[in-house]
Amino acid sequence: MTHRRAFLQFLAGSPLLAGAGWIPDVLAQTPTPTERAFARATASAAEALDVFDMQTVASRTIPPAHWGYMMSGVDGETTLRANEQAYAEYQLRVRRFVDVSRIDLGVELFGTKYNSPIVISPVGGQRSFHVDGELAVARAAKTRGQLQILSTSTSTGVEQVIEARGAPVWFQLYTTTRPDITVKLVKRAEAAGCPVVAVTVDRAAGRNMETATRFLRIDNRVCTSCHGPTGSDRGGRPMFDGIDMEEGTDMTSPSLTWDFVKRLKDMTKMKVLIKGLETREDAVLALKHGADGIIVSNHGGRAQDTGRGTLEALVEIVPAVRGRVPVIVDGGVRRGSDVLKALALGANAVGIGRPYIWGLGAFGEAGVDRVLAILNAELRIAMGGVGARTLKEITPVAIMRRK
Ligand SMILES: Cc1cc2nc3c(=O)[nH]c(=O)nc-3n(C[C@H](O)[C@H](O)[C@H](O)COP(=O)(O)O)c2cc1C
Repeated sequence: MTHRRAFLQFLAGSPLLAGAGWIPDVLAQTPTPTERAFARATASAAEALDVFDMQTVASRTIPPAHWGYMMSGVDGETTLRANEQAYAEYQLRVRRFVDVSRIDLGVELFGTKYNSPIVISPVGGQRSFHVDGELAVARAAKTRGQLQILSTSTSTGVEQVIEARGAPVWFQLYTTTRPDITVKLVKRAEAAGCPVVAVTVDRAAGRNMETATRFLRIDNRVCTSCHGPTGSDRGGRPMFDGIDMEEGTDMTSPSLTWDFVKRLKDMTKMKVLIKGLETREDAVLALKHGADGIIVSNHGGRAQDTGRGTLEALVEIVPAVRGRVPVIVDGGVRRGSDVLKALALGANAVGIGRPYIWGLGAFGEAGVDRVLAILNAELRIAMGGVGARTLKEITPVAIMRRK
């Protein structure tokens, strides 16, 4: 009886159940061991066992409209699902009797060493998931010594984020429709100390986010109190401070073509990466136009629907690049074993988007830190399983495609 009372008291205070008043009643009637274990598993960041525990907590803590926006894909969300499913198509080929007592996850990108090949992909407006937003993410990235890429749509200025990170972050560029704004954004990121700019090219054609729209309808908060009178999100976008964003100025430009890469390179000393490539043809064009690296990405299934999983795109891009520049892939990575699979298929590093946002929304900095720790630990175990002690020892024979 005492245990039962303590359990109910615990449930009442659990972030997992915040706003879900009916659940304690249900559990009080039928608190099965599984239900108890599930509710108990995520009372704190430290107790999350995988990134999905974080997702569960975050689904309660992040407001519905923001949750829907973050989880959304486009149209029927087949690309979103394809990203995750692509990893399930590969299996590990385990090896035995290799001394895996020491495993090193370290990676070097453009002369800088990071403790893990898991990269924090750019996600806009992180203060809409937790009050500490990008700063919490930067602090966790600092603790873990991992690479953070900051969105143009950041809700905290690049200078403050670099200060919190204690080291440079990479800057993700949305060109907007106006070249003068592009120049200002690039100059500001460079002046702040960013060594790399990654221009995102996968959203030129517009998009249709049905899940986001549905969740918006069930959120009864007043959006304009944060987003400004037109519902635009520019009020909280400090990279545009001092820039006159006239009506009709969009984040992405539908008219850009490959010659933009040279213009961008002429604009800056930063290394120039292209984020959002999915075919060998575009990878070849990127190199031809002077790109210093490629991020294989479909924006987490948020750009075009009925596309392929990014892992499938990686498979055709890696042979076209032939090791000339670094290739990073993101989309659908939810386990350390997924990271290993992407590395085995030739990626130099692997990005995550939603998983660290779940950690952020659930527990702020501690949640992001825990997500990174979980994925690193899983990667370490997967590497040990295939007998790889360093990233270089992860070769294509570490995996095989399901038959
Ligand atoms: C809520 C949200 C916001 C995003 N914002 C940006 C952005 O501002 N710039 C960008 O290049 N990519 C953005 N992305 C895409 C991510 O950088 C990344 O490609 C994607 O999230 C990876 O897929 P995953 O979420 O399955 O890990 C965003 C993704 C999400 C989910």
